[in-house]
Amino acid sequence: MPEVLVFMRRPFVVVTMLVALLGSALSASFEIDGDLMRGIEDTAKSLDSHVSLKDAQAVAEAKELAELFTQIEAFYARKGDAADGVGFARNSHALALQAQQAAQARDFDAAADAVGKLIRSCKTCHQVYKRE
Ligand code: HEC
Repeated sequence: MPEVLVFMRRPFVVVTMLVALLGSALSASFEIDGDLMRGIEDTAKSLDSHVSLKDAQAVAEAKELAELFTQIEAFYARKGDAADGVGFARNSHALALQAQQAAQARDFDAAADAVGKLIRSCKTCHQVYKRE
């Protein structure tokens, strides 16, 4: 039997490879574009108002932003030659996480502080990476 067929008879190996391929295809398809950013803007605004209202909805919104900034960090890391982008995204991620944890603990003053810093962090990255 040809080598390749022996190999294909190992379903576990094949499935593992497919999962790995799919995973890299998905992460490679992540892009920073206007759609992603408009979504981030909407979520950040909603987070800001839910924190002001001491609404627990803020927890999920901060979590969503934290996850998106993790993906943005990975995007810049993959892209290469974008150390600033990696750093800005990591900083935004840390602030979103801080907001999430504070809102979770119902410390909405601390959450508001983190969200204020998060919103200011947007501009830092835009000054370097956003083309007009
Ligand atoms: C790590 C870098 C980075 C951070 C942090 C960042 N952005 Fe962006 N943003 C970009 C880039 C790059 C673009 C340009 C995307 C494009 O149009 O291709 C952009 C574009 C935008 C746009 C314009 C979208 C449009 O209509 O085309 C908005 C709105 C926006 N960002 C909101 C935000 C908000 C709100 C935050 C903070 C909560 C934020 N961004 C944080 C990199 C970043």
